[in-house]
Amino acid sequence: MKSCIALIILFLPLFTYGEGVSSCLNDGENNINPSSVNAHGGGVVSSKGMYYWFGEVKGKGMDGNKVQQGVSLYESSDLCNWKYKGVAYSSNQNNNVIYLERPKVIYNKRNNEYIMWFHIDYRKGFNNESYARLGVAESKNIEGPYKFITSYRPNKDTKPVNFQKNDFNDMYFKSGYESGFDSRDFTLFKDDDGKAYVIYNSEMNNTLHVALLDDTYTRVTNEYSRVLINGRNEAPVIFKIDKTYFMITSGLTGWKANQARLFESDNIFGPWIRKNNPIKGTPEDIATTFNSQSAFSIEDKLGNLFIFGDRWSPHNPIESKYVVSEIKYNNGNLSMERIGND
Ligand code: GAL
Repeated sequence: MKSCIALIILFLPLFTYGEGVSSCLNDGENNINPSSVNAHGGGVVSSKGMYYWFGEVKGKGMDGNKVQQGVSLYESSDLCNWKYKGVAYSSNQNNNVIYLERPKVIYNKRNNEYIMWFHIDYRKGFNNESYARLGVAESKNIEGPYKFITSYRPNKDTKPVNFQKNDFNDMYFKSGYESGFDSRDFTLFKDDDGKAYVIYNSEMNNTLHVALLDDTYTRVTNEYSRVLINGRNEAPVIFKIDKTYFMITSGLTGWKANQARLFESDNIFGPWIRKNNPIKGTPEDIATTFNSQSAFSIEDKLGNLFIFGDRWSPHNPIESKYVVSEIKYNNGNLSMERIGND
């Protein structure tokens, strides 16, 4: 009998997600309302049984992407009902910053601090998107206020771990190497061993870099790799199931939704292998990622894994909606199914 049980255990898939355990997010009624949550391109961290959602504040009308009050914060115990906690990071700490996008926060156990990263752009005096830096702020308290530390174009004069001689023939790599790498859409990822990484879109939006952070999580080390070279990926989200890393990105069509891209790797520095489009839905859902672009992944208390995305409304950004999908993972196959409907 014992050996029979052992055999059954042996043949059970190691990890499954989305096996019918329901949370308030997947009861179908819980679309997150943009009039109650204004936190776009955001990120969620959990602490002591609560979830904290940081994001961009959008405003009304054509200038609604320029509100730039800072980073808003919402709190929830269930990922469905969100309570406004105010502005966790105020943009007026850095006069040069006009645009702040995709804020993400991680907890640094070593220093007992919360570290926030964001993409900053449109410096005063520039009239196009050419600043392309990563900003960093910190707080002892998860709710803030977060204090601006510095901003970077990372990895100046630093060769990637997967450096190839002809990398210098690529003018975008060469110019980033010489002056610091332009950094736009990005995400943070904290691994099981406590190492944290910033994954940013660089080289004029052509190539992603995966860069190891130092143990304060406020700086890059000199260890980074160029991944999905010339793949033109945006909006990266990374999560890990068992020992496998998964990355979901979008293509590069600005505010217009496009197909989700799924990549898999057993090493965060790559190589990353492209998999089939993970979206389960109508042909239109598949072509447009349910008309949304990925923002962050989060696991609920029941062990379900979700991707939150933004459905941008560029003419009236305050109306941009959120689209929540559930990750289903079984026998090595990963898919994304929409939670709720329009
Ligand atoms: C998106 C990007 C957003 C924002 C937008 C501007 O693709 O993910 O964060 O930068 O482009 O066009």
